Amino acid sequence: MSVHKEVKKVTTNTLLKLKAANQKISMLTAYDFSFAGIFDAAGIDVILVGDSASNVMAGHETTLPITLDQMIYHAQSVVRGVKRCLVVVDLPFGTYQSNSDIALASAIRIMKETGAHALKLEGGEEIVESVKKIVSAGIPVMGHLGLTPQSIYKFGTYNVRANNELEAEKLKKDILLLQEAGCFACVLEKIPAALAKEVTASVFIPTIGIGAGNGCDGQVLVMHDMLGINNEFNPRFLRKYLNMHEQITTAVTQYIDDVKSGDFPNEKESY
Ligand code: KIV
Repeated sequence: MSVHKEVKKVTTNTLLKLKAANQKISMLTAYDFSFAGIFDAAGIDVILVGDSASNVMAGHETTLPITLDQMIYHAQSVVRGVKRCLVVVDLPFGTYQSNSDIALASAIRIMKETGAHALKLEGGEEIVESVKKIVSAGIPVMGHLGLTPQSIYKFGTYNVRANNELEAEKLKKDILLLQEAGCFACVLEKIPAALAKEVTASVFIPTIGIGAGNGCDGQVLVMHDMLGINNEFNPRFLRKYLNMHEQITTAVTQYIDDVKSGDFPNEKESY
């Protein structure tokens, strides 16, 4: 008899069932063991090891510089912290766009070296062959349409995407292609709420919105944004659940004062 307590794990199938049952999906980014453990224990459905690590962990202006090795390091740390949620990892820029064999090799490295459960790739029609190849190797893939930060230099801005007919039509076609190629879900980033709602109704795979309104099947936020660690990023779509920037600053200021004044450590804090 196993001594391990049975934990009901979230799978890609769970997400499909949640959509079919009209229940929302919660997703947050995480990049390390400690936060992943807290989010998992709190009941999050999905943790995304986003390439936003390039911004919030490494301080780069864009997601482009982060490497496959660095994503693998973050993903390994997250996987060690979770017991039940689904862990999805971004394939970073430059590791899948050139051809589907390279995409598959990158995908296999992440799956083998991290223990993560699924991958996320940005783009529509352009990446369909790679999605098919990765899925046919048994690796679940999440799509990502709308504002795709790895293409920021093509767009030029982080403004709302698909707010003209041409782009909206392409997005509607792209999500169908991704679904057909075998994606189990798709992120919709920064697109009009009405379009996201329409697109969500057109597919059986769940859509996870960020800045895409309430008509998506789930929502995702970057943990540093929703916890208020980053106080310089305040887009309309963001709801801050804490103001950690202020709280951490207050705590650290107090600590510095206590050290400088000799108040810390006191007798009870000493051996
Ligand atoms: O990298 C990331 O954090 C993401 C989310 C914004 C969806 O792709």
